Amino acid sequence: VVLDLGTGTGILAFLACQAGARRVYAVEAGAVIALARLLARANGFEDRIVFIEGSSDALTLPEGVDLILTDTFAPCGLQEGGLRSVIDIRNRFLKPGGAVVPGKIELFVAPVEAARIYERDIEFWRQRLHGIDLSPAREVAVNHYYPFTFDERAFVAGSARVACLNLSDQESVAFHGEVTLPVQRTGTVHGLCVWFTASLTGDVVLTNRPAASTTNYAQGFFPVARPVQVEKGDRVAIAIQSHDSGHWRWQVAIQGSGAAQQPKARFDHSTFLGFPPQFA
Ligand SMILES: C[S@@+](CC[C@H](N)C(=O)[O-])C[C@H]1O[C@@H](n2cnc3c(N)ncnc32)[C@H](O)[C@@H]1O
Repeated sequence: VVLDLGTGTGILAFLACQAGARRVYAVEAGAVIALARLLARANGFEDRIVFIEGSSDALTLPEGVDLILTDTFAPCGLQEGGLRSVIDIRNRFLKPGGAVVPGKIELFVAPVEAARIYERDIEFWRQRLHGIDLSPAREVAVNHYYPFTFDERAFVAGSARVACLNLSDQESVAFHGEVTLPVQRTGTVHGLCVWFTASLTGDVVLTNRPAASTTNYAQGFFPVARPVQVEKGDRVAIAIQSHDSGHWRWQVAIQGSGAAQQPKARFDHSTFLGFPPQFA
């Protein structure tokens, strides 16, 4: 017995039937569930899939499940609120010995040179347009994260795992991590690129890592307040905190190389500051 959380077009539910599931509970909050029902009928899966329209928060089931599947991803791992939903349905419906797929989601980070998106989404707000000063919006813009597709040439330093979510036993929706990365080439740090790797089964993973992506998800770009020139040997210390992928804080400290190891820049950004001021 399988539960597909966020079944969308129903693809994972159909694959579960093909793999031998006796029953699949396919839960979907959006109108796309009509398409899943249509495809289920056309492919002869209707008798084994129970479609349930609505949020998983209100879900009730007549039985426990052996497997929870979910493809509710976003550029930086699960969608906002996704961890809470997975923990909730796992604790309420997964039978002892059952499994969650993905079992593990890891987040990775790399400092990046990203002049194009920085100009487009951050520096845009510096200007006066038709006599109107847009500059107050820049502070808001620099405290958001942006979906963007990077290639590895954007990396100015190494990358590292910064957080790990174990969907089989994690109880907290908050996660955080810290890494320090050596700069590998002269360049400009405009912010951070964040991506995920989801472990499905055995060594099968789904990832949106730049250049090695196996999904259609972009990566996340977390800007810093001003671009910083860096050289090989500098060090970038990064701390990331998130509350269920809805709120993010990213702190970046860049230290020069050489004997003096001068601090070059220090940033502390939060999506709390990215809301329009009336919501702050
Ligand atoms: C990435 S999409 C669906 C992917 C799906 N595997 C497909 O191929 O179409 C994720 C879906 O999950 C749904 N979703 C996310 N959280 C949900 C929840 N807690 N309860 C019900 N549906 C949810 C969204 O409405 C969205 O349609």
